[in-house]
Amino acid sequence: MTIGTQQELDRLLAVGSVVGKTLRAMGALLEPGMTTRELDDAGAKLLEDAGAESAPMVSVGFPGATCISINNQIAHGIPGEQEVEAGDLVNIDVSARKDGFFADSGATFMVPPTTEGQKALCRTTRKALSRSINAVRAGVPLNIIGRTIERVARQRGYTVIRNLHSHGVGSNLHEEPSIPPYLDRQDRRTLHEGLVFTIEPFLSTGAEWAEQSDDGWTLMTPPAFMTAQYEHSLVVTRRGAIVLTR
Ligand code: CO
Ligand code: CO
Repeated sequence: MTIGTQQELDRLLAVGSVVGKTLRAMGALLEPGMTTRELDDAGAKLLEDAGAESAPMVSVGFPGATCISINNQIAHGIPGEQEVEAGDLVNIDVSARKDGFFADSGATFMVPPTTEGQKALCRTTRKALSRSINAVRAGVPLNIIGRTIERVARQRGYTVIRNLHSHGVGSNLHEEPSIPPYLDRQDRRTLHEGLVFTIEPFLSTGAEWAEQSDDGWTLMTPPAFMTAQYEHSLVVTRRGAIVLTR
């Protein structure tokens, strides 16, 4: 969506704050032996207590309040009986609706003991997100996002997951524009003032495509690869981005 009033911005900031706090709180609860359902139940309670609804539930009938994806499950993992184990990479993606507005955020958490390889991948993926947020300003080409993500990934020898895109958000969980994580030179779109969208790079040690598993939801890569994702929702202004989900 594109916003034009302070009231719209305030409501987006309100739902963004709930999403950001829920994501952080869930990350802090991660512990070997807990099931992903227990973690999701905690997230569901936090959203409910804040007067928000799970966006994947209300938008697409997802069977969980949040998406929890472990190791080569990289997105849209269904909360269930799987237990978190020491050494896992756990992606938690939280999105919610409150007062009619949607925000979306995600992060990959390392469950100790953590390898240097995991740390470097997560650090570089966070950098791809922060660099691309810093590039946002009204009037700049939209493909600056993909160019920035791809450049940061390549500098460290990582791939990007090409079929998982950043996206518009605000009045729905997923809206136009769809923003690829690589430079598309044919793309003539620009970022305009008030546009609400996510940036969510998925960087990998080699995978380039996510494939849906038999459960109809979970997106996976081959098990040989590690993948990380970080995501914020933001609003474009003439001076830069307002991040909604800190
Ligand atoms: Co998203
Ligand atoms: Co998300």
